[in-house]
Amino acid sequence: MTAREIRTKFLEYFEKNGHTVVPSSSLLPDDPSVLLTTAGMQQFKSYYTRSADPMRDFKSLSTASAQKSFRTSDIDEVGDDTHLTFFEMLGNFSFGGYFKKEAITFAHEFITKELGLDISYVTIFEGSRTVPKDEESREIWKSLGVSDIREEGMDDVFWGPTGSSGPCGPTTELYCKNATGEDVEIWNIVFNEFFYPGSREELLGGSTSKSLEPLEYPGVDTGMGLERLAMVSQQTKNIFEIDSFQTLFNLLPDELDVRTKRIISDHLRGGVFLLADGVRPSNKEAGYILRRLLRRALAYEEINNLEASLFESMLLQVINTEGEFYTELKSNKNEIINEYWSERERFTKTLKRGLGELNKLESIDAVGAFRLYESFGLPFEIIKEIGGEGAHGLSRELFDKEFEKHQKKSRAGAEKKFGGHGLILNTGELKAKDTEELKKVTRLHSATHLMQAALRKVLGDSVEQRGSDITVERTRFDLSFDRKITKEELRRVEDIVNDVVERDLTVTEEELSFEEAIRRGALHFFKEKYPEHVRVYSFMDKDGKPFSMELCGGPHVTHTQEIGKFRIIKEEASSAGVRRVRGTVEP
Ligand code: ALA
Repeated sequence: MTAREIRTKFLEYFEKNGHTVVPSSSLLPDDPSVLLTTAGMQQFKSYYTRSADPMRDFKSLSTASAQKSFRTSDIDEVGDDTHLTFFEMLGNFSFGGYFKKEAITFAHEFITKELGLDISYVTIFEGSRTVPKDEESREIWKSLGVSDIREEGMDDVFWGPTGSSGPCGPTTELYCKNATGEDVEIWNIVFNEFFYPGSREELLGGSTSKSLEPLEYPGVDTGMGLERLAMVSQQTKNIFEIDSFQTLFNLLPDELDVRTKRIISDHLRGGVFLLADGVRPSNKEAGYILRRLLRRALAYEEINNLEASLFESMLLQVINTEGEFYTELKSNKNEIINEYWSERERFTKTLKRGLGELNKLESIDAVGAFRLYESFGLPFEIIKEIGGEGAHGLSRELFDKEFEKHQKKSRAGAEKKFGGHGLILNTGELKAKDTEELKKVTRLHSATHLMQAALRKVLGDSVEQRGSDITVERTRFDLSFDRKITKEELRRVEDIVNDVVERDLTVTEEELSFEEAIRRGALHFFKEKYPEHVRVYSFMDKDGKPFSMELCGGPHVTHTQEIGKFRIIKEEASSAGVRRVRGTVEP
């Protein structure tokens, strides 16, 4: 069975057992405390706590998905037999529906009957100070005929929370053998029995101020890496020998060493998926991860004199095969390829010189490595690798420290530069270089708040802001919504906004504590980290209720008639589950 066939089999199996199959969420999570999506359960966090209703959204208490996942912590490890940055996680989830017995029975049946594999052994939670040993899981495994049951602790078989708080609980894991006879962890089955109001680090560190709270509806969250599962199912020796990687390897010259082949394939594949979800190469956050992937691959291209067109063929291979299931790859194909070439152009200009400089150095420390990165864009991984013995003392940690130091400096510099001259306004979202522009972007900004409120009225309250950008010409607003917005709906949004403009509502501004603002229902942009005290702008209706209320730094008009007539000029897909709307106001 190919990896794609296994994925289909998994989803079909759980569908036939009462699960609603849900599409993968974006690699860019809603949760601002997480950089990239690392597990299937992340898009479901609010269903475990029941702040969202699974019956309403899925018509079922259980779901299944194949989730695009990315673990940045593994970047430096890629090249060995087991690590990947991007991978697909198969998972089934229960939000207060079935629990241990069904979850373990499903897993057992899927692995042994549907795939016909042998289970080597399973693990269960050995118990801790706060959580008892998981005897129940042991009994269930035993009743299914599994006899090798091993106990492990908090570090290995206790999941979560992801981000700064969330559901968590003991897990049980299932192991199978690959072609070398080695036992590989295939499936992690989590029993979310608790909510922890802090991070995993705080939990494992034994924080005394926070404790586990029982979840009202205990749930199940499982995760199985598709590539690993394919490895044991196809009986290969490592994950790179499975069919989906072999098709990529086949495009590379035979004589290239295997580690390089692995890194190039992993990084280009991850790059495609990040680009498809709207990430662009940059020097921060997800953009920086993407840049590292592409540049490391490009450095190998240069060092090994690979054909310039080769990587494009590999990107297309990923788009064409994985795009059948992850359709955002196909719909963003041109952008993915164009962005790749732009990054290649930016990088290859200085790459040769950078490599030349690097080869001249006898020894290289974090400061030197950072200089090479800054002047020539050389990624840390390449410096470390090509630097060989000379880069012996160089570590990722030291390099990252140097990087952070520099970022702080350049932020301070930017503030100074814009202080009073040049740009008169730069909030990130709004930019203006003179008072004329400032007036226009302010009107567009207020129109954007009204548009968001109107979109929620027309499309429902689940619509959330995913980004926004305002220039003198237009406002651009990204929102979570999973289909095209119809002409009729857009017209209604325009009408609602223009009606509010006509009625000349007053705009008020107040300082509130973050909690109070949220309590009053002020909208906020999830990806942002807010301080304790925030500014809130409200467009007050005549009945004293706000038509719109948002956390925002301003500036805004004082009365809505200043905005002028509002018009939507374009609506399109931005990434999976995200629509992009552009609007203008009369000159
Ligand atoms: N959320 C669990 C994991 O990622 C299943 O391992």
